Amino acid sequence: MQEIKITTTLTCYDHIEELPQKIQELMESAVKARKNAYAPYSKFRVGAALLLENGKVILGNNQENAAYPSGLCAERVAIFHAGAEYPGVAVNQIAITATSDNHINKTPIPPCGSCRQSIAEYEMRQESPIEIYFMGAEGKIMKSNSLKDLLPLVFDKSYL
Ligand code: THU
Repeated sequence: MQEIKITTTLTCYDHIEELPQKIQELMESAVKARKNAYAPYSKFRVGAALLLENGKVILGNNQENAAYPSGLCAERVAIFHAGAEYPGVAVNQIAITATSDNHINKTPIPPCGSCRQSIAEYEMRQESPIEIYFMGAEGKIMKSNSLKDLLPLVFDKSYL
């Protein structure tokens, strides 16, 4: 018997102004996208902005549905759009922001497990890491250098 320890490393920024300029702008785009979320049921709005290697920014926000499971998270709306419109163009960074309409979330809110799995697919497909920055409505921001740091033991095509 043997125990395996899995560790991960994240960077924490105290405020959006500490981010590199282009990431600040990306996070501001995510904030704008968040405000357009369609979230009448959860009142929880999420915005995602992807920066592609060609300089394009792709936005996504959560899209809910009266049949709850038919809705989709912001991160997957954005990354599926990138895959549909710019196949073969790498996604270099993703900025994510999330908050409830009922209270202002000030701690970083990470992407859900399903979104991590979806982003992992694109990272493996493009064979280059995707940096992920996530925050609440405002305040601290966390960054992972690769999706792999957020999803150890990822399920991938090697198991098929
Ligand atoms: N949501 C996202 O958009 N991204 C996540 O990573 C977690 C959750 C959305 C789904 C749903 O519309 C609302 O937030 C509450 O779960």
